[in-house]
Amino acid sequence: ARIPVLCIDGPTASGKGTLAAAVAERLGYHVLDSGALYRLVGLAAERAGIATDEAALADPAVVARLAALAERLPVRFGDGRIWLDGDDVTQAVRSEAAGMAASRVSALPAVRAALLALQRGFRRLPGLVADGRDMGTVVFPDAPLKVFLTASAATRAQRRYEQLISRGEPANIDSLLADLEARDARDRARAAAPLKPAEDALLLDNSALSVDETVQTVLSWWQRRQ
Ligand code: C5P
Repeated sequence: ARIPVLCIDGPTASGKGTLAAAVAERLGYHVLDSGALYRLVGLAAERAGIATDEAALADPAVVARLAALAERLPVRFGDGRIWLDGDDVTQAVRSEAAGMAASRVSALPAVRAALLALQRGFRRLPGLVADGRDMGTVVFPDAPLKVFLTASAATRAQRRYEQLISRGEPANIDSLLADLEARDARDRARAAAPLKPAEDALLLDNSALSVDETVQTVLSWWQRRQ
């Protein structure tokens, strides 16, 4: 039998990361935070002095450099921390700037293709919980359970706001809302692996659910799918 994978896809700040971590903990599974990989490509590009604005990305030479970077991403994961080229970038990958850079570089098919093998390598026994935008549609199409997690834009902006404030970072609810709507629009509109539920995904809107209720719902679906 294949190693089990539970996919959680959905828009920005829908609570995928929290849900994936909690479900993985309960099942004793590994976790793949695929968004972190795209964020790491954005960070690595910045450090290498490769611009990722729209004009730069229109240049095939820039795209080729980014794909090469993604192909040999000098990244190491462990103990809940992420190192890029030996530097601890656990905080830096979560920044809004890294998220916006990720959203731009992730629209490039060459970058997506370069990250496929790395992502699939996370599928190890006893199992994997994978969170992202295309886990169920592209990376693990044979997964026995695909959850598409959503919440209203207002709910998601509020959650992101509270997360930033609790970390002592400055935050503005209106600009967070505008940023997440821009990012979702780009993720949905792109030709390469657009954000959309897999045909066999189960939809879950957690706007009015607690974290615990969301986790329990997914665990009960998983038990029935196994
Ligand atoms: O989930 P997170 O906010 O960390 O992802 C950052 C960006 O990376 C997303 O806005 C999206 O553009 C991109 N991404 C993607 N495919 C994934 C995960 C993330 O395109 N599987």
